[in-house]
Amino acid sequence: MILGIGTDLANIERIQRTLDRFGDRFRNRVFTEVEQRKAEHRRDAAGTYAKRWAAKEACSKALGTGLRMGIAWKDMAVSNLRTGQPVMHVTGWAAERLRKMTPPGHEAVIHVTLTDDHPWAQAFVLIEARPVAANPADLPAGT
Ligand SMILES: CC(C)(COP(=O)(O)OP(=O)(O)OC[C@H]1O[C@@H](n2cnc3c(N)ncnc32)[C@H](O)[C@@H]1OP(=O)(O)O)[C@@H](O)C(=O)NCCC(=O)NCCS
Repeated sequence: MILGIGTDLANIERIQRTLDRFGDRFRNRVFTEVEQRKAEHRRDAAGTYAKRWAAKEACSKALGTGLRMGIAWKDMAVSNLRTGQPVMHVTGWAAERLRKMTPPGHEAVIHVTLTDDHPWAQAFVLIEARPVAANPADLPAGT
């Protein structure tokens, strides 16, 4: 079952201006080391940050909280599989919120997809609850 969806559109030029103005203070407050490493190794660092900014906003919407003052942005973090596919990890308050919205007997799976086309970066996040098989014998044949 679907527990939540969220979307966000971020302006890459606005993110660039914020990077220019606040530098590491902005980087370190919002982005994890993994996110920073990914962005800083790219020609389009601002575009890479903007996608991850959009992902965090979209995730907060899917969690139903939105972005309140004082929330820890780094508790919603994007990394990439070897194929390039993005993955969202939640920790701290976001993990706690996810735990509370997940029905008993289920596990939550977060899906995220990113795209950018200058000057826009976009993210969608979908949170799915999957039943957890209490007993391996309950699993469908062939799994
Ligand atoms: C995935 C692909 C369609 C992205 O299209 P694009 O027009 O270049 O870029 P977009 O701006 O639309 O999207 C970029 C985002 O797609 C996502 N993405 C990349 N690879 C992905 C994949 N395999 N599955 C799902 N999402 C993927 C990433 O989040 C990426 O942003 P990020 O690298 O900052 O996290 C394109 O890169 C592609 O077809 N790649 C072929 C697969 C490939 O080259 N694999 C190499 C490793 S095996």
